[in-house]
Amino acid sequence: MGRAGFVAGNWKMHGSLVRNQELLDAVVSGTRSLQNVSCVVCVPYPYIAQTQSVLEGSHVLWGGQNVSQYHHGAYTGEVSADMLADLGCQYVIVGHSERRTLFGEGNQVVAEKFRAAQECSITPILCVGETLAQRESDETEQVIAMQLDAVIDLAGIEALGQSVIAYEPVWAIGTGKTATPQQAQDVHKFIRSRIAVHSGGIAENIQILYGGSVKADNARELFTMPDIDGGLIGGASLIAVEFISICLAAQN
Ligand code: PGA
Repeated sequence: MGRAGFVAGNWKMHGSLVRNQELLDAVVSGTRSLQNVSCVVCVPYPYIAQTQSVLEGSHVLWGGQNVSQYHHGAYTGEVSADMLADLGCQYVIVGHSERRTLFGEGNQVVAEKFRAAQECSITPILCVGETLAQRESDETEQVIAMQLDAVIDLAGIEALGQSVIAYEPVWAIGTGKTATPQQAQDVHKFIRSRIAVHSGGIAENIQILYGGSVKADNARELFTMPDIDGGLIGGASLIAVEFISICLAAQN
């Protein structure tokens, strides 16, 4: 039966009105023939309105890269899930490792952001992953279990089932170092087994993406692994031909 593919671009803090227009136009036309793969771009906040106006009515969906855990109020500089929903976002990345490490977001805050997104009918793309030091001291599974459990404890297993998970080993992000397909597969399998403790059905159906230096030339190998359903793509999502061919590689 198989899960559908899913590829999300994470533009991070890149873009300009002119460059975005070119990139979005190219992605829309280059992915027109895509079958059974969701194609999403997660863009910087100031460009969400532009993205909405370019993508509305196309098969490419859009989302944010972060969201506040609060819905409204005196939170200077924050952006709520209600606002993202207002601009047509269907997805938002929560718990990206850059948010965790550079901006001090812990598991509890990530879980609150996850919940805030779902309260506005936005699907969270929940990022989990270990640092190099954690991998080398054999803590990968323990770290990821804690990242997942924080969300399950706060939002519940059914809520987790309404999300997309992205496994992103911190040591592979933006470094050009990709996890081998087998290394990624092992962790994806672990994530499914951890979820299966609560619900076999959710474990089977949830889409789990791999992220960390995915490029056109390694995507297919990664995506053919049984528990890898697609990718969360940073650097390569800024280059239309790369991103398009990664999307095509996620077709079953
Ligand atoms: P990368 O980033 O593809 O540039 O490694 C992935 C991510 O941070 O989501």
